[in-house]
Amino acid sequence: MKAIIVHGGAGKVHTKEEIPPRIETCKKAALSGFEILKKGETSIDAAVEAVKIFEDNPLFNAGKGSYLTEKGEVEMDAGIMNGNTLKIGAVSGIKHVKNPIELARAVMEKSKHNFLIGEGAEEFALKNNLPLVPNEYFITERTKKLFADKIHDTVGAVALDEKGVISVAVSTGGTPMKMSGRVGDSPLVGSGFYANERFGAVATGIGEDIMRAVLTFRIALYLEKGINTAIKEAIAYLTKINGKAGVIALDKNGNIAFEYNTEMMFYAFMKDGMSDPEGGI
Ligand code: GLY
Repeated sequence: MKAIIVHGGAGKVHTKEEIPPRIETCKKAALSGFEILKKGETSIDAAVEAVKIFEDNPLFNAGKGSYLTEKGEVEMDAGIMNGNTLKIGAVSGIKHVKNPIELARAVMEKSKHNFLIGEGAEEFALKNNLPLVPNEYFITERTKKLFADKIHDTVGAVALDEKGVISVAVSTGGTPMKMSGRVGDSPLVGSGFYANERFGAVATGIGEDIMRAVLTFRIALYLEKGINTAIKEAIAYLTKINGKAGVIALDKNGNIAFEYNTEMMFYAFMKDGMSDPEGGI
């Protein structure tokens, strides 16, 4: 069974005009990831491909289009995990790497560490020939106008390949007008992302809340009830502690699940037996 689910952020809708192109991009990301799975490539390849589509699109808070810090700069986080090997790659405070998810992947596959930050992470990107760009590349007219009350954040993907391996990938510019140096949930294993041999999940929403709930690992606590109930219970717990977020997930049988307690969450998915991706908010 091959399957992929992606999200383009949970939060509030800025303008109605933004809804159709965002949903279309979610479908494009799901379809592109699924094409990779169909070629027999890995769930890591599929999840990275899907996340890169969001990172390159200025409508999403990841890569180009990331929210600005209080200082008017972009500082990005990303994380990746292979549910079979349990290998992790995470990066934080990234200011120049064009696709932070590729750097997270390089950390997982080519370094002896799990998590690199700031300058050291970018030196590692340079050594691995990943494209670097000026910080201005990430800043858009749209993000210059966004302020803290308009959460609408993060992108992510969960994929299952033909070999039964589940992988997850997540990338974000964090929250609007965050303090410089702030780290959200997205690069934190168990909070922003988690995968093992039974399920994979990524979160989107307010990082400070997601961390308090250890949201994606929390799903494992309820998994015997099935992935749909498990993510509902994880979000119910978050609601109980006054947190706001969304989660996408799939299990080893290709069952797809998503849940959120925000106003909306952009998502799309595709699996064997479907001719087109399904998406919505
Ligand atoms: N969920 C992304 C962040 O809070 O940074």
